[in-house]
Amino acid sequence: MLTLILPDATLALNSTTLAILGGIVPPPSSVPPYFNTTPLIQLYSITANKWLDPVAPLPVALNHPNAVVVDGQVYLLGGLADTRDGVWRGTGTSWVYDPMSNEWSRLSGMSDIDTPRGSAAVGVDAHTGLVYLAGGMTQLPLVEDDPLGQDSVDTVSAFDTRRGMWVVLPEIARQMSGRRDNAGVTVVDGVLYVLGGRDRGKENVSGEVFALDLKDLEKGWVTKRGRMPTPRGGVCSGTVGGKVYVFGGEENLAEGSDGVFDQVEAYDTKTDTWESLQPMKVPRHGGAPVDMFDVFYP
Ligand SMILES: *[C@@H]1O[C@H](CO)[C@@H](O)[C@H](O)[C@H]1NC(C)=O
Ligand SMILES: *[C@@H]1O[C@H](CO)[C@@H](O)[C@H](O)[C@H]1NC(C)=O
Repeated sequence: MLTLILPDATLALNSTTLAILGGIVPPPSSVPPYFNTTPLIQLYSITANKWLDPVAPLPVALNHPNAVVVDGQVYLLGGLADTRDGVWRGTGTSWVYDPMSNEWSRLSGMSDIDTPRGSAAVGVDAHTGLVYLAGGMTQLPLVEDDPLGQDSVDTVSAFDTRRGMWVVLPEIARQMSGRRDNAGVTVVDGVLYVLGGRDRGKENVSGEVFALDLKDLEKGWVTKRGRMPTPRGGVCSGTVGGKVYVFGGEENLAEGSDGVFDQVEAYDTKTDTWESLQPMKVPRHGGAPVDMFDVFYP
């Protein structure tokens, strides 16, 4: 059975099964930590059209987890955790999950190398087995107007899944051209793209596309000419055939929108241009699309 969850990570565990990791579960409470961040993993079989039995939960309860599947293993590379003062804070604790043995093993933490954070844009270089974490946030106060504020970072970190360690990137690749969290992300033809997202708070959303050529990190981050027609944060994105589809998102100022977007816009990585597509029937933000295309048609 599905427990309502956000902001989680949803991944293709393999060609038939989706895994939903962490997030928060209702009901919210009026006292800190306000929400219940969960270590739950929920599995859904597309072929059997049913929810599977629960597997070993995350070793830590995280929302906005930085998670990805590489070579059939689930990498959990930090995220945000509940605190007693009602602020979600970054934790760098990192783990790998083996679906065959149903066991989690501890990895070195993100804090070995960079600021622990959640909600990074996560991309994988399939050739090197490096996982890139671009941007993210280190703190998110849950009380509106908390002077502490929400931050966003421009830090870029990399974890080498083959050597099981964090690696130091060349200086020029270690910082994106701006701070972003809750952005869209993809890797196409060895280039990591970070699309839209927000910079220190929901009010400050972006339509920019930042790109890093993973085949030549010394070229550093570039800002593409093509800008997302509707700047948005809290978006979700999926990629098919070199086009990145960006769905919904947050901070819609239009009357009656409740702040949520229904826009669907696609970025063509070959032509560096955007097109607007049919909007979603139900506006959404903080969704978690799973790009199964590569899984079914590798
Ligand atoms: C995918 O993973 C699920 C859960 O571990 C497992 O039951 C299923 O057999 C796997 N399917 C394939 C095709 O590997
Ligand atoms: C919005 O982002 C800009 C940088 O892009 C920054 O200077 C500004 O402080 C941000 N505004 C808010 C309200 O966080």
